[in-house]
Amino acid sequence: MRIRTAVVILVVLAMLALSACGGAGSKTVKIAILAPLSGDVATFGQSTRDGAMLAIEEWNAKGGVDGKTIEVVVEDSQCSAEAAVSAANKVIDQDGVKFIIGEVCSSASIPISQIAAAKGVLQITPTSTNPTVTVNEDGTTKETVFRACFIDPFQGLVGAKFAIDTLGAKTAAVFLDQGNDYVRGLAEVFIKEFEAAGGEVLVQETYTGDDQDFSAILTKVKDANPDVLYLPDYYNTINLIAGQAQEKGITSVLMGGDGWDSADLDTSVVEGGYFTNHFSPDDTRPIVQDFVSKYEAKYGARPDALAALAYDAATILLQSMDQADSVDPAEVAAAMASGTFPVVSGEITYDALHNPVKAAVMLKVEGGQIIYTETVAP
Ligand code: PHE
Repeated sequence: MRIRTAVVILVVLAMLALSACGGAGSKTVKIAILAPLSGDVATFGQSTRDGAMLAIEEWNAKGGVDGKTIEVVVEDSQCSAEAAVSAANKVIDQDGVKFIIGEVCSSASIPISQIAAAKGVLQITPTSTNPTVTVNEDGTTKETVFRACFIDPFQGLVGAKFAIDTLGAKTAAVFLDQGNDYVRGLAEVFIKEFEAAGGEVLVQETYTGDDQDFSAILTKVKDANPDVLYLPDYYNTINLIAGQAQEKGITSVLMGGDGWDSADLDTSVVEGGYFTNHFSPDDTRPIVQDFVSKYEAKYGARPDALAALAYDAATILLQSMDQADSVDPAEVAAAMASGTFPVVSGEITYDALHNPVKAAVMLKVEGGQIIYTETVAP
């Protein structure tokens, strides 16, 4: 009897030890969500967390993945490189996480990707569009790093072509924040593609992330009076720049990229503007409408692109674990690289650089609403 009890205790202890260190017998698998939940672009992080959680809860409700319940660790990585590095190190080294969904912002995802690549952790960013997130400096692909979104060379091309072909623009002004990988990268692509298509960039000005007063550079725009003013930054900065442009009486059509996507975008200062994005809740495809109703039922709000892509990133990750029959990051990465994922933002397969090939949508700000205008395939 005493021996039996001892054996039972040993077995229980062994099981506890295995599950604590996430070993092969573990009944749970940990996934971290790293996103800016506070600060200047907090709507990005909140939508990202909500979108990813919706997918994860759905999988848990049908029994988890690879026989395991999914356990989530959420960290506020603040859209900043430093906060992202500490959050990534914390979840990997202290929590034992091997799978990361995040970050939103390219400048935060790039340093996370270096840590993930070095430590063999699988990272999938829902929304970071800068090409270098998935690519090493020598041009090789980071084997365990993926994204759920298109990249800025495509987004900038779509914006430039739309300006010229649809709006009939001949001239543009472009503002860029040198210190922000997303803003700088997207601005550079837009300039290159706008000029390649025969347009002329009359004004090109830089600012820094701390700037609050844009009147000096806006005066140059007012004087040059270009057809388009391209502002590829996040909504908080757009609200500032566009508000000051309006005060100055600038009438150029404002254009931007996915960074405009927020319930906190001040539509009154970007009225008549256009921005490229990944997703529109007005898309009538059944997979989109099914997601929109589930999201609305749970959160009482319409999903933005960040929510849709986070839902997709979580789905791609879980489907890959399921297909690999494994929670080993290298095996899951192999399944991801070769899989086909019919997700909300399109049917995804990965190219050699771990970028999905997929369409963009062009949205218009009209009467305070965000209106879907067209879908542009690559
Ligand atoms: N693409 C942006 C970046 O790389 C992030 C973003 C995506 C923001 C979608 C809003 C919507 O930093």
